[in-house]
Amino acid sequence: MAGTSALVTGAGSGIGRAIAIRLAADGYAVFVNDLSAERAEAVAAEIRAAGGTAASGAGDVGDEADVARLHAEAVAAFGAVALLVNNAGIAHQSLFESLEVADFDRMFRVHVRGTFLMTRAVLPAMLAAGKGVVVNVASQLGQIGGVELVHYSGAKAAIIGMTKALAREVSARGVRVNAVAPGPINTPLVMDLSEDWRAAKKAELPLGRFGEPSEVAATVAFLASDEASLFVGQTLGPNSGDVML
Ligand code: NAI
Repeated sequence: MAGTSALVTGAGSGIGRAIAIRLAADGYAVFVNDLSAERAEAVAAEIRAAGGTAASGAGDVGDEADVARLHAEAVAAFGAVALLVNNAGIAHQSLFESLEVADFDRMFRVHVRGTFLMTRAVLPAMLAAGKGVVVNVASQLGQIGGVELVHYSGAKAAIIGMTKALAREVSARGVRVNAVAPGPINTPLVMDLSEDWRAAKKAELPLGRFGEPSEVAATVAFLASDEASLFVGQTLGPNSGDVML
């Protein structure tokens, strides 16, 4: 992987941070994006301190101009993006009856529009090179749904559908597109969900524990690698056994 470049969105925290660190350890030059410039740069600095190669860029994946700028910054730093990980995301709970239009729109803006915009930015160069990998971070809630999470579950289901559709379009031209659908993982995002939700969820997990970000990063690293050459449009589930497909 030495010399190839990866762009990880929302990588200033949690799963994205772990993915960025793992990919850097695997030899990628990593462009670390986050909404927060401080968090993104802190992760890039952590990677460099460990001997890896990283740069950071702040911006909103749901904003077309930000995405164009971030893509240009990533290309300027490390050349064409060979691996894109669409990880940026937010959590928000609401009963469906009281779900505000603004919260519904925000959820789809970050997850669905963000995945669309970022992928659209990197894909032309991947197709021109006849090689590239996209890994989308969905969620098992996009497969089974979650109470008070219609907007989140819907956005994640959309990401799974987009993953499959794009994989059908581009895999014969050398670009592999897959998704991961993690179960509950110990990150700040999950700590934003209610304590009741977390206790109930833990009780039903066959493994009896939430996952760690590094365990999701390992799945992403596999999908990114040539070892995953037959994985096309798949959704892998590092999920403590909560969903078995
Ligand atoms: P986190 O809250 O620790 O990190 C998410 C990062 O994304 C934050 O640093 C945030 O600033 C950034 N971000 C948010 N909106 C952004 C935007 N518009 N543009 C750029 N960056 C943005 O959350 P976590 O848990 O690491 O989540 C990462 C991904 O994993 C999300 O897509 C989430 O939905 C997904 N996921 C998380 C699970 C969990 O249990 N933690 C389970 C399944 C999926």
